[in-house]
Amino acid sequence: MTTHLNTCLTLLRWLSLSIRTGMYSYIWICFFLIITCISGNNDEFNIDGTTADGWEFVRDLFRENFVEERDLGASLAIYYQGNLVVDLQGGWFDKLKSKSYDNNSLQLVFSTTKGLVAIAVALCVQQGLLDYSKLVTNYWPEYGQNGKENTTVADILSHRAGLPFDFSPFDDYLNWTLMTNRLEQGQPVWKPGTTHGYHALTYGWLAGELVRRVDPKNRTLGEFIRDEIAKPLQIEFYVGLPSEQEYRVSPLDLQPYQSSLDDFNKNTTHRAEIPGGNGITNARSLARLYASLIGNVENNRYQQILTEDILKRAIKSNTPPHEIDFVLNITTTFAMGFSVMNDLFPSLGSEIFGHQGIGGSIGFAAPEKNLSFAYVVNRLETQVIDIDHRYKTMIKDIAQMIDRNHATNLINNFSFHLLTFFVFFHRLRQ
Ligand SMILES: *[C@@H]1O[C@H](CO)[C@@H](O)[C@H](O)[C@H]1NC(C)=O
Ligand SMILES: *[C@@H]1O[C@H](CO)[C@@H](O)[C@H](O)[C@H]1NC(C)=O
Ligand SMILES: *[C@@H]1O[C@H](CO)[C@@H](O)[C@H](O)[C@H]1NC(C)=O
Ligand SMILES: *[C@@H]1O[C@H](CO)[C@@H](O)[C@H](O)[C@H]1NC(C)=O
Ligand SMILES: *[C@@H]1O[C@H](CO)[C@@H](O)[C@H](O)[C@H]1NC(C)=O
Ligand SMILES: *[C@@H]1O[C@H](CO)[C@@H](O)[C@H](O)[C@H]1NC(C)=O
Ligand SMILES: *[C@@H]1O[C@H](CO)[C@@H](O)[C@H](O)[C@H]1NC(C)=O
Ligand SMILES: *[C@@H]1O[C@H](CO)[C@@H](O)[C@H](O)[C@H]1NC(C)=O
Repeated sequence: MTTHLNTCLTLLRWLSLSIRTGMYSYIWICFFLIITCISGNNDEFNIDGTTADGWEFVRDLFRENFVEERDLGASLAIYYQGNLVVDLQGGWFDKLKSKSYDNNSLQLVFSTTKGLVAIAVALCVQQGLLDYSKLVTNYWPEYGQNGKENTTVADILSHRAGLPFDFSPFDDYLNWTLMTNRLEQGQPVWKPGTTHGYHALTYGWLAGELVRRVDPKNRTLGEFIRDEIAKPLQIEFYVGLPSEQEYRVSPLDLQPYQSSLDDFNKNTTHRAEIPGGNGITNARSLARLYASLIGNVENNRYQQILTEDILKRAIKSNTPPHEIDFVLNITTTFAMGFSVMNDLFPSLGSEIFGHQGIGGSIGFAAPEKNLSFAYVVNRLETQVIDIDHRYKTMIKDIAQMIDRNHATNLINNFSFHLLTFFVFFHRLRQ
């Protein structure tokens, strides 16, 4: 990018010099200037980062999202077999295009945060501090009122608690104690455990309070995540952003009809812990987080954070087949805090788990393909309900590429064995 700019500037300087001195060479310089500027087109969207051999096509598809103006600023990362194979950023930091969206940019990812909260709870289960099947009142006695007495931890994590709605003014969301007190006094909309409905915001305080109650170190959820997840994996995923990082947060590019989300651009919101939807991260961190759930990462540099057994329980659906979501009025499927995404990405096999956020951000793992995927965006697409167009074809193409390589390997291995056999046979006959 800078090299390209420098070349352009140098040519421009020569051009002005040659015009002043009346040299005819300016025609040639003009020609080079045009060619250089055209061939530098690749940088017009500030796309930067790396792709491993065979993954270059993802960069082209990523770029296409900027060409089509689906994206203003975004980052995309993919781990395959424990290695970072795609790590890209592009576009602009803000609506005014005041600077490029780069690898220092951070993004608020809305409900994508719910997957992180699910991991925090799973860690507590792994450490024997929480049990999915136990009653919430074991850990949070005050919760046992107004018909919520028999709510289980699993009910809370899989949106079966019956407390999906909250009509508090936004400022109340900044006060953890206020929200958890309100929820503990709340009356469930349905008998806990009997059906499910998306707890868009309340999921965060309910699940987060469980972690807070059992943590022997009495940390807030944000502190727990920082110490137990972000630090060991060397990732950035904040629930409660430190003020000194505020300047790195790319503002959400909201349309007038999305003004109900304006509060999410405030630094007071970023600083608060609203685990249903105010996590701040980047694609590289999010992809590494999911990669660390299905295997060791980067040649064992980062260890798998959950055991196979706990992971299996955490990603198993707790929604009966075809049960309609009481809130969204469509079928949704939830495991222990993760969204089950098998129907969204059939090309990636089964047991796909992760979470999307309103507007397009997403993080998930596809264990059968040994793949994790993260895409975070500042321009929100709030009309699409199922798969965001930004990664729909991308994921299909990735699945095809993995399958093709797998098939090629099989054939190569088979040919290799066949060859060995013939060589061996030939020797025998000699
Ligand atoms: C995923 O890839 C890693 C690294 O190559 C490997 O250790 C692990 O066994 C793979 N997992 C599966 C389920 O294939
Ligand atoms: C971020 O980008 C800068 C400049 O392009 C580069 O030097 C640095 O290595 C990148 N950092 C990461 C973590 O990729
Ligand atoms: C909770 O379960 C107990 C024992 O099964 C039952 O007696 C009680 O009525 C239940 N409470 C509510 C609010 O459903
Ligand atoms: C948060 O809410 C609690 C409980 O209502 C209240 O006591 C406390 O003063 C509030 N904190 C702030 C900073 O407003
Ligand atoms: C835990 O932290 C809360 C405030 O977050 C405080 O009121 C309480 O006393 C602490 N408990 C212990 C055991 O440290
Ligand atoms: C937070 O935003 C307000 C208003 O936009 C601004 O006055 C204040 O300086 C900001 N604080 C920090 C820590 O960024
Ligand atoms: C829920 O969806 C069904 C079918 O799509 C529709 O007939 C029904 O009116 C919807 N209910 C509400 C309350 O929106
Ligand atoms: C082919 O053989 C290589 C090396 O022996 C092995 O790593 C790879 O998994 C095999 N591929 C398939 C698809 O069996």
